[in-house]
Amino acid sequence: MRIDVLTIFPGWFEGPLTTSLLGKAAADGTLDVRVHDLRDWTTDRHRTVDDAPYGGGAGMVMRADVWINAAEAVWNDLPPEATAGRTGPPEGLAHVAGGPRPRTVLLTPRGRPLTQALARELAAEDRLVLCCGRYEGIDERAHELVATDEVSVGDYVVFGGEVAAAVVIEAVTRHVPGVMGNAASPVDESFSERLDTGEQLLEHPQYTRPSQVRGHGVPEVLTSGDHGAVGRWRHDQARELTERRRPDLR
Ligand code: ADE
Repeated sequence: MRIDVLTIFPGWFEGPLTTSLLGKAAADGTLDVRVHDLRDWTTDRHRTVDDAPYGGGAGMVMRADVWINAAEAVWNDLPPEATAGRTGPPEGLAHVAGGPRPRTVLLTPRGRPLTQALARELAAEDRLVLCCGRYEGIDERAHELVATDEVSVGDYVVFGGEVAAAVVIEAVTRHVPGVMGNAASPVDESFSERLDTGEQLLEHPQYTRPSQVRGHGVPEVLTSGDHGAVGRWRHDQARELTERRRPDLR
């Protein structure tokens, strides 16, 4: 899978993309993640990506022309100079190969909430483009002409789309074959449907050695050797936890 990220803070992604399973997947070619500096599509000396809002008000708005020119280049695998400063009608906005543009996700608190189902859906794509907004928002024409999807990582506001894009990358790529290796299956986890009952449950509690920690032991059933009983206990615990913390999932 190829993922292109558009951001004014390309350095932000250095840690997340080179660490742990993502770093390994990038190194062995399972994932091809390319981070682009949005400012490479500006044409002024100050590399300006924002301006004051029409109609007044506080804060700055990211310019649509910069976003559109950047997306057009990334979709079509062109260097920034091929589209930077481009004006005129959007005839070049189609994917050059004539096919549809890749799924292009704009991270914004007004987007559709990221869920495990959406992560799985996006994982089926060959390519994704992630657009990280900053400032007060992005000119509406970039929403219309660039984004195929608008996604939020929760009902709160963070400083910018970078941290949200990192969440999307992790949630999506763990469903890409080869990324998780043998570490675990993404099936038997919180928010994944149980294959047997179809329920959406939070994950059951887990324990490991030592058996005593400051006077706190391990539930007896887990050391009983009775796999059936262990399975039933875990399912009961998952249901109880879900009922208590996330009754909306039931
Ligand atoms: N940018 C700022 N807050 C965000 C959120 N909750 N989700 C996605 N992008 C954001």
